[in-house]
Amino acid sequence: MMPRADAPAAAGAVWYGPMAPADAPGAAAIEAGVADGWSLAGIEGALAAPAARCWCARAGGQVAAFAAFTCAADEASLDALSVAPAWRRRGLARGLLTAALAALAAEGAAACYLEVRRSNTPARALYAALGFAPVGLRPRFYENPAEDAVLMKKEL
Ligand SMILES: CC(C)(COP(=O)(O)OP(=O)(O)OC[C@H]1O[C@@H](n2cnc3c(N)ncnc32)[C@H](O)[C@@H]1OP(=O)(O)O)[C@@H](O)C(=O)NCCC(=O)NCCS
Repeated sequence: MMPRADAPAAAGAVWYGPMAPADAPGAAAIEAGVADGWSLAGIEGALAAPAARCWCARAGGQVAAFAAFTCAADEASLDALSVAPAWRRRGLARGLLTAALAALAAEGAAACYLEVRRSNTPARALYAALGFAPVGLRPRFYENPAEDAVLMKKEL
């Protein structure tokens, strides 16, 4: 059963589920600290977009991780992912993506794609651990600094 979007995080536990509008500022605060991070307006826009699926992890009464996907036909794409620095290497990204990808598969997505900076070793290790495989390269996809993107895909 899907957890309720407005259920509070239990003490000491991590809650994973679809984001509520009230989670947007917390997600934006995490995104403000990462490369290519989304603004609050961008997150609020995604929350209002029919094709977007925004998920978060709540821990210690706060938003601790954020992920945004887009769904089109039977394909999903992971458009943003970040975990608050204090919560990294504690399994939150793994838990959040596992829960969200299961929900996307249940609504009909057959595959999920993502782009990641070539130099982003932590994220590439995470995605490989979750079963994403490299399927292409997008030269100079990113700016500030300019860098190639590795395109990765996971069958759901
Ligand atoms: C990448 C990121 C989302 C990982 O989040 P996280 O919650 O720390 O990841 P998890 O604890 O769930 O790690 C799961 C697995 O991913 C890999 N991994 C995660 N961080 C890693 C790191 N710093 N170095 C090497 N492997 C790493 C490991 O295989 C890890 O499993 P293990 O801890 O059992 O070894 C986080 O570092 C982050 O927010 N980075 C900045 C934003 C970013 O780069 N987003 C991705 C954009 S494409």
